[in-house]
Amino acid sequence: MNKGAGYILGIETSCDETAAAIIKADKNAKQVTLLSNVVATSLSLHAATGGIIPEIAAREQVKFIIPVIQEALKVLKNPQEEIDAIAVTVGPGLIGSLLVGVETARSIAYVWNKPIIAVNHLFGHIYANWIKSENKTGIEFPAIALIVSGGHTDLVLMKNHKDILWLGGTRDDAAGEAFDKTGRLLGLAYPAGPQIEKLATGIEKDIYHFPKPLIGSGDFDFSFSGLKTAVLRETQKNEKLNNERISNICYSLQEAIFDVLIKKTFKAAKEYNAKSILLGGGVTANQTLKQRFELEIGNLKLEIPLFIPEKRLCTDNAAMIATAAFFNQAETDWQNISANPELYFD
Ligand code: KG4
Ligand code: ZN
Repeated sequence: MNKGAGYILGIETSCDETAAAIIKADKNAKQVTLLSNVVATSLSLHAATGGIIPEIAAREQVKFIIPVIQEALKVLKNPQEEIDAIAVTVGPGLIGSLLVGVETARSIAYVWNKPIIAVNHLFGHIYANWIKSENKTGIEFPAIALIVSGGHTDLVLMKNHKDILWLGGTRDDAAGEAFDKTGRLLGLAYPAGPQIEKLATGIEKDIYHFPKPLIGSGDFDFSFSGLKTAVLRETQKNEKLNNERISNICYSLQEAIFDVLIKKTFKAAKEYNAKSILLGGGVTANQTLKQRFELEIGNLKLEIPLFIPEKRLCTDNAAMIATAAFFNQAETDWQNISANPELYFD
């Protein structure tokens, strides 16, 4: 983008959300402005099956992609003229879903003769923090970023936009996945995270003391798969699984997962003298997690600002993809881009 201000069309189709967004960014902007943000989801089709069926997700992507992009483009008078670049998620994700976004982006880039920018979905979750909102400005480097979603739990050190170092991640289930899988054992529909948050609200005592795996491991790795067994054991006891017990289990589950996330994030923040802590991904929509992080900053008497995207930008969206493209990724053309479901941090 070599003009003063530019518009980027973002496209995200890595899983069960079909999303398109337009951001406006001045050349040396420290934050971007969100002009439109459209998200369609096939979530309700997956609720009954307890998880995402990739084939169904991909077919729904095909249905939604054009109307979603059309809707996002409505904020511009002449999109073909005004758009400077097209950003698209190339991975990680489900291959069938990713291909729908990538091939659509390639076609638009070809027909409109625009540059295209390949974006790593995980970077997208971090970059949701650079979208303008009323109370957040001034992210400073080095920053520690925690990505907690249904597919990933990763801690990264951002020295600057171009120097991003992976510190550790989950060895098995991601934090969101742990909520979804244990939620299923409790009879909650997919995705269970938001319901677990609701059910746990108002509970104040951790009765079950579920394991907090790797909490003292000294590294930045995570492991949440053992929580399934712990919750399963509780559900198999003779006591009736009534609402009160379910709520108590939800609370203890949140405590176990959040304690580990908080311990490791602050360990990384201290070790690398972080000037900002950034959270991103679906699980960071959880208000208890936000409060626990804020509380810990107070307890540790740290003066590190905490950044969490607006709730609607914590879960999958295309605004974060366009924003990551603006700050972090290189322009190429439609011939040099392809989906990569296994993409991770370099
Ligand atoms: O980032 P995201 O939309 O998709 C992935 O990239 O995976 O995250 C979805 C995950 C699901 O596992 C869902 O249960 C979890 O985020 N989630 C939550 C909450 N809202 C969504 N987990 C806990 N509390 C929430 N409020
Ligand atoms: Zn995601």
